[in-house]
Amino acid sequence: MNILITGGAGYIGSHTCVELLEAGHDIVIVDNFSNSNFKVLDNIKTITSKEFKFYEGDVKDKALLEKIFKENKIDAVIHFAAYKAVGESVTKPLMYYRNNLDTTITLLEVMNEFNCHNFVFSSSATVYGSPKSLPIKEDFPLSTTNPYGTTKLMNEQILSDVATADPDFSVIILRYFNPIGAHRSGLLGEDPNGIPNNLMPYIVRVATKELPSLNIFGNDYDTKDGTGVRDYIHVVDLAKGHLKAIEKAATSKGVKYYNLGTGTGYSVLELVKTFEKVNNIKVPYKIAPRRAGDIASCYADPTKAYQELGFKTELTIEDMCRDSYNYIITKEKHLND
Ligand code: UD1
Repeated sequence: MNILITGGAGYIGSHTCVELLEAGHDIVIVDNFSNSNFKVLDNIKTITSKEFKFYEGDVKDKALLEKIFKENKIDAVIHFAAYKAVGESVTKPLMYYRNNLDTTITLLEVMNEFNCHNFVFSSSATVYGSPKSLPIKEDFPLSTTNPYGTTKLMNEQILSDVATADPDFSVIILRYFNPIGAHRSGLLGEDPNGIPNNLMPYIVRVATKELPSLNIFGNDYDTKDGTGVRDYIHVVDLAKGHLKAIEKAATSKGVKYYNLGTGTGYSVLELVKTFEKVNNIKVPYKIAPRRAGDIASCYADPTKAYQELGFKTELTIEDMCRDSYNYIITKEKHLND
């Protein structure tokens, strides 16, 4: 298949491009580098020894999308391009609604124009809000606690309405749990600008001594050791889930929802201890107050993705800790060569 990847230079997008190319698909990437680096494209080529087409620009730019669809026969779209910082979405809600909704609507309009009806969407476990029980299944009630999450939920609704209106459409919605890790080569990974909000990028910065110590947000939750529990999934496993999803989209109609997680929850302390052990490095930490909006535990029931997509994660929490660190300690080299 020839697949358009929006946000293909981003963290999850770039790993997915590698998996698609290695599986023999052709890809076309569109990215505006608002939160990524041009060098990522070279690194995808280095890993795969494959070529692909690339367009620099914004997915909200309809003329650009029409040009891409005119110049390429696109069979399916995987839509990653979006803003994703929870805190920023609270202070700049309109920026989030404008960007995260307009991109999807514009894409869908142009797909209709060019008779392309296979769509895979990057959603998030954030759409489950504060779940009443665990593990989380796809049919659990949906709610959100911040504008970022609301844009994910609104996108899901838009896609579902479009698939209802046009029976030719096939939409696969992937709800990611907590992606961490990096490509084994050290050539692709995550390195957010500024002080990280998410746990693994923060741990890595403490390990490299760029930050003095980790604040663990609460040790009085009703969990195994009192710290928050999450379902961390290696980004390479997550990328492989997109390969399964694209195959499913090509052979089914309507809208389908899948959790992409491992099904196992690890606490903050467990993640810190594992990171220290596999990388043989200390991560100093302090216990801090709970972070507003956090829930105690969140992990997936991955059964549906296994039964219907044949998706099963393979990489361990040790792999995630090793690869996250490896990417950061080698990244200067890979991004500047
Ligand atoms: C958050 C978002 C989710 C998004 C995901 C991206 C919410 C409600 N959820 O998930 O929508 O998809 O990021 O990966 O905002 N922690 C610390 N110290 C830190 C940072 C985090 O103790 O410095 C703890 C948190 O309290 C939590 C766990 O680590 O228990 C994971 O936090 P984080 O990596 O930020 O992810 P989520 O909040 O689960």
